Amino acid sequence: MKTVVISLGGSILIPELNENRIKAYIPVLERIAAKHRLFVVVGGGGGARDYIDVARDLGIDEGTADEIGILVTRLNATLLIAALGEAAYPKVAESHSEAKKFAEAKKIVVMGGITPGQTTDAVAAVLAERVRADVFVNVTSVDGIYDKDPKKYPGTPYHATLTPQELLTIVGQGGLGAGSHNVLDIIAARVVERSHIPLVVLDGTNPENLADALLSGSCRCSVVSDTKKKILPL
Ligand code: UTP
Repeated sequence: MKTVVISLGGSILIPELNENRIKAYIPVLERIAAKHRLFVVVGGGGGARDYIDVARDLGIDEGTADEIGILVTRLNATLLIAALGEAAYPKVAESHSEAKKFAEAKKIVVMGGITPGQTTDAVAAVLAERVRADVFVNVTSVDGIYDKDPKKYPGTPYHATLTPQELLTIVGQGGLGAGSHNVLDIIAARVVERSHIPLVVLDGTNPENLADALLSGSCRCSVVSDTKKKILPL
């Protein structure tokens, strides 16, 4: 049994409330949890961005907009927990220590955001450190790490494997603001570098990609690691 922390982007799980993939993710998460100790950190998605936009229109400061974003991530986490039913611990963890405590129940532990000034990727990266994860997975809307956003710059180089230092250089070129978008939060990239925990970045538009990557090792994904050790399948 391995310990797995997944950052499940809101733009993947709940791009819009009435256009969500929660149902499709349930059997996938259950299959992984049947073999491994699983933590899932849920993002805010379109809902968080809508609220943050309204906050900005009202002239509300970025820190407060972040707090609003955090509330939306926790709402999404609540939905996922309810949909997972018996498979999940019944409460959203509001801190890393709470997540560790909840894991004693041997169920899937779900959390959202915790602190302004970051995204749920950073929450998940630190959680991976705190629970000594064997792997940290970022489920996002791109199939791995490119030098630049491949949607804006077609043909930009793709990296199937890279070192944490290379990741930091790539991610360091992005910006930070409430609701800001990058393949991985810069704080998360720094944590990946210091923790030496392997990171897998994959496209979760099709939920089966996650199960395929972790359980069969077949995926188009980027693996960030500073060892030559084979990371996938778990
Ligand atoms: P997300 O982690 O969802 O950010 O948090 P995101 O980059 O928009 O990712 P996707 O689209 O879900 O994949 C939503 C917002 O909530 C605030 C930030 O403003 C973030 O942009 N937040 C979240 C925090 O301030 N702190 C946290 O710990 C988590």
